[in-house]
Amino acid sequence: MLLTVHVWRQPDAETQGGFETVSPVQAREEMSILELLDAVNETLERQGDDPVSFDDGCREGICGKCGVTVDGVPHGPDRNRASCMQSLNAYRDGDEVFIEPMRAGALPVKKDLAVDKKSLRRVSKEAKFPVAMKALNTAGCISCGACIAACPNGSGQLFVGTMLKHLPPLAKTPEERDERAAKVLDAADQEFGPCSLLGDCTEVCPAGLPLQNLTSVTRENLHRKFPERYPAPQGPDDDEGSAGAEKK
Ligand code: SF4
Ligand code: FES
Repeated sequence: MLLTVHVWRQPDAETQGGFETVSPVQAREEMSILELLDAVNETLERQGDDPVSFDDGCREGICGKCGVTVDGVPHGPDRNRASCMQSLNAYRDGDEVFIEPMRAGALPVKKDLAVDKKSLRRVSKEAKFPVAMKALNTAGCISCGACIAACPNGSGQLFVGTMLKHLPPLAKTPEERDERAAKVLDAADQEFGPCSLLGDCTEVCPAGLPLQNLTSVTRENLHRKFPERYPAPQGPDDDEGSAGAEKK
């Protein structure tokens, strides 16, 4: 099929960007969004134009490096799939596709479709980076940032809640766990917007992480403020709600 692709071009974070139309682009239904971008770049190069910049890595939904917004949806129209694992099944010959960067204050554009994900790395570092990575890997989070881009508030609560939920069994002492959790909460407050429980994050998360992970942030905040009444979560299987955890 032949598609018309409107792709975002922006030389750097400071310069205003805009859509460039590339047409026709030869595509097949089984192609991923990244493969469509490869086809866009082949078309541009044939025309003597600069290729579009975008991030990729494994192209198997594992590394979290990819991620663009396709027709307004972070990662693309297939629910809970990274951009590299999306198909073009939703498109037919002659269709138009709009591809732009993930949109969030915490994900500034580096160039074209590539965004800077240092906000996620900073929050992870507050938990001690290898520990955070182990916690996130255990849960299946690939640190792609789509939950933040999907949220109208730019909240990272699904990412942060998932990390916090899996921190407890990895710390050496309760004090160390509490200190890490507090630093994560402070960094997340600075980097991301507030959560309004809209649930858009779980619609796009490639790991299919559940809304319940959002409550880990609330539990952690209650424990931080009222440690006697709200004991620290005991691990990912400690699903006792924050109200239920209260000690009279
Ligand atoms: S919680 Fe899901 S959407 Fe958010 S960074 Fe992790 S894998 Fe990506
Ligand atoms: S390129 Fe690694 S998750 Fe998409």
